[in-house]
Amino acid sequence: YVTYRFIVPKSPCNPKIKKDVPKVVDSFDIEELADRTSFCRCWRSKKFPYCDGAHSDYNVKSSDNVGPLVIKKK
Ligand code: FES
Repeated sequence: YVTYRFIVPKSPCNPKIKKDVPKVVDSFDIEELADRTSFCRCWRSKKFPYCDGAHSDYNVKSSDNVGPLVIKKK
């Protein structure tokens, strides 16, 4: 028997990207993407929604383990 506790985060998932809109949504046609495109999932990239590698520093500082979503065309 396992009990899960709901953990309230100390900071929001998204600290600063497009905070003036109620919901951040990015949409792409698959034809617009390069052969390999990495999308940010840590919300710290200066090139959001694309990954710029900022997750590495974020993971060290937060003890988290997030990384990008990588889309590859065959
Ligand atoms: Fe956010 Fe890479 S910079 S996942």
